[in-house]
Amino acid sequence: MHLSLTHSLLALTTLGGVLGTKNPTCDLNILAGQHVIYSWDYTLPNPPDELYDLTRAGLVGGVMLYDLHVNNNTPAALARLQDAYKASPAYKLFRKQSGRDTGLLIMTNEEGGTVFNGVHNGGPALSAKEVGASSDPATVGWQAGVQAAAALKKYNFNVDLAPVMGVYREEGNFLDSSNRSYGKTPQRVVKATLPFIKAQRARGILVSIKHFPGLGAARKDQNTDAAPVTLNVTLDDLNSIDLLPFKAAIKAGVDMVMPSWAIYPAVDDTRPAGLSRKWMRDILRGQLGFRGVTITEAMEAGAILPYGGVEERAKIAVQAGNDLILASGLDVTEGEVIRKALVAGLAEGELDQGEFRMATDRIIALRSL
Ligand SMILES: *[C@@H]1O[C@H](CO)[C@@H](O)[C@H](O)[C@H]1NC(C)=O
Ligand SMILES: *[C@@H]1O[C@H](CO)[C@@H](O)[C@H](O)[C@H]1NC(C)=O
Repeated sequence: MHLSLTHSLLALTTLGGVLGTKNPTCDLNILAGQHVIYSWDYTLPNPPDELYDLTRAGLVGGVMLYDLHVNNNTPAALARLQDAYKASPAYKLFRKQSGRDTGLLIMTNEEGGTVFNGVHNGGPALSAKEVGASSDPATVGWQAGVQAAAALKKYNFNVDLAPVMGVYREEGNFLDSSNRSYGKTPQRVVKATLPFIKAQRARGILVSIKHFPGLGAARKDQNTDAAPVTLNVTLDDLNSIDLLPFKAAIKAGVDMVMPSWAIYPAVDDTRPAGLSRKWMRDILRGQLGFRGVTITEAMEAGAILPYGGVEERAKIAVQAGNDLILASGLDVTEGEVIRKALVAGLAEGELDQGEFRMATDRIIALRSL
């Protein structure tokens, strides 16, 4: 499946960066693959052979697991996946170009508590709500971060898709009903989450804050996994409540940001935040100065189904400013369909090659830690 797209490739390689210039083996399939996070059916005892084959071919940027994937085989299965990557032309290419060793991103939601607790027989016993409500959220948040990092490392994960930065508005709403918000004020959320983030990063775990600019205003039934969600939050409230924890975390240092699939009409009334250049480029990178890696929410989520098939959705997500595309639909094929759509989008000029190259450089830099 190697496309020979000489001038696309030239355009991609003249920009330099981590990958350097003019590499004849630098192929669009490999470049696009680095932008895709794959998943597989959790009823299988191990990741499928197809995923190992794709990884060995250099076409996989990382994988995402849910708690139901995690079993006693997981540490060895994930170590074998890293070995498959190390044997790939992608690993060799990035080693040659950057002089650095890179690994796959291996991620889960380790939020603590019982709901999104990726490593279900480890990790913080306390939920975000309990951490935030404690008498000393900073110390308890730090301890939760230490526990999260230990559990993730034990199973060979290197990315935590947590913490949730949303400031919940009402008891029992979407975030609060599952104990996923640290507090009702931005100050309390900041107090608990910054140490949670710092403790994990100090232990070599990459951290992604979510769901930018926050789901704190979502009512109980407003779930972007299921259906489109519009959050009618005023610009004043966005600035004085929802955005504050994101600003604080970006200022303190954080590796990744995951945007929300909700629509916030105060800023963009046509596109969910994660498909919106206004949110992703103008606000997140422009106003908030975020320089790290962006990663989408689930590409199969109900909230984004109105924007086309998965190929179209993935291209819109990249155009908006997402570096990594999360194919978390429990099927390796979803990741492959997305990777091929990105290759086609680059070849046909639908995706900006300069922007894509800069995103690849950010991803490779993140994976070189
Ligand atoms: C939230 O926390 C409360 C109190 O600890 C607990 O009773 C409840 O089961 C939790 N809810 C969920 C969805 O985990
Ligand atoms: C959204 O908020 C604006 C301003 O407060 C209001 O005029 C409008 O009716 C609201 N729309 C919905 C759907 O709640």
